[in-house]
Amino acid sequence: MEFDSLIRNWDGETVITHYDRPTGAWIFIALHSTRRGPACGGTRMKTYPDLQSALQDVLKLAAGMTFKFATADFEFGGGKAVIALPPHFDVSLRPGLLRRYGALIRQLGGLYHTGPDVGTTSADMDVIAETGAPFVFARTQQVGGAGDSGPLTALGVFHAMQTTCATLDSNASLTGRKVLVQGAGTVGKTLIKHLLKAGAQVCFSDVDPEAIEYCRTKLGLSFVPPDQVYSTLCDIFAPCALGGILNATTIPTLRCRAIVGAANNQLDSLDDAERLRNRNILYAPDFVINLGGAIGITGIEALHWSEAEAEQRVIDAVTRTLREVYDLARNENISTDNAARRIVQARLDEHHK
Ligand code: PHE
Repeated sequence: MEFDSLIRNWDGETVITHYDRPTGAWIFIALHSTRRGPACGGTRMKTYPDLQSALQDVLKLAAGMTFKFATADFEFGGGKAVIALPPHFDVSLRPGLLRRYGALIRQLGGLYHTGPDVGTTSADMDVIAETGAPFVFARTQQVGGAGDSGPLTALGVFHAMQTTCATLDSNASLTGRKVLVQGAGTVGKTLIKHLLKAGAQVCFSDVDPEAIEYCRTKLGLSFVPPDQVYSTLCDIFAPCALGGILNATTIPTLRCRAIVGAANNQLDSLDDAERLRNRNILYAPDFVINLGGAIGITGIEALHWSEAEAEQRVIDAVTRTLREVYDLARNENISTDNAARRIVQARLDEHHK
């Protein structure tokens, strides 16, 4: 799709475009909604096949953030930034790029707050904050930040798995359940630890040789090659890598009972929610269950929650909303994604009254 139609058909407020001349990187900051508060969302940094895909990604991701903050009834709006790196990006240029990006955030004067996402870490937030403070969350603890957001996201997803198991067969326990985790990154790794502790039978898939090595040798997990990840028999499939993986091609091949994972925008299109419903696969809507990092970290830093309080709030927001979603979907005979959108939209509308 072309740039103009992507933005025209988007229901958000503003898109800021910045070309970083020294590196050739493009920076998009999408402000989806500032009605509840300043737009907040992570910074995704990677190489895209083309600029349209980068723009499409940031628009969808920003909308997801509006939904996450509304789900948790939090005083932030939704935003997201994508830094689209040129192919063969020279890593020595990275700190300079991040500082120029930070300066842009500062210029926006609080309209947009950021944190980590795919391709950025807490250490990167430290660099961005050199020029972008005080609008940068999840800096490292060494410099006074709340640190990595991955563990809090994983905590919420793990509890969502228990709620899902309880809905499937009135038993919330994960003991003995076969769970396939796609993507052993910052969130996936912590999720795997929770699952192992709970006695689940975990297998994983990844494309990064280092992550594969770690899970195989350090954790002793069996590896599922990426081309078999959708057709592998399991109780719960946990997408914790990139979005768009639940689509017309993959859904017919799935052999799981439920999908509960941390990735943003797992459904390729709204039709895919119906496809999953028709296959009788229980889908935990991503924006309801992966809000842990964003809510927990901003709560700790902006509202001075303790770590324990952040954990409890994340668990409560996820499990309460997910139960509501599953109930509404069953009672109204609609997809869980549709149910989640209705519930969260109602929370947004309620707020605007
Ligand atoms: N990557 C987080 C998400 O997608 C974004 C985030 C993390 C925002 C930490 C703020 C603080 O939800």
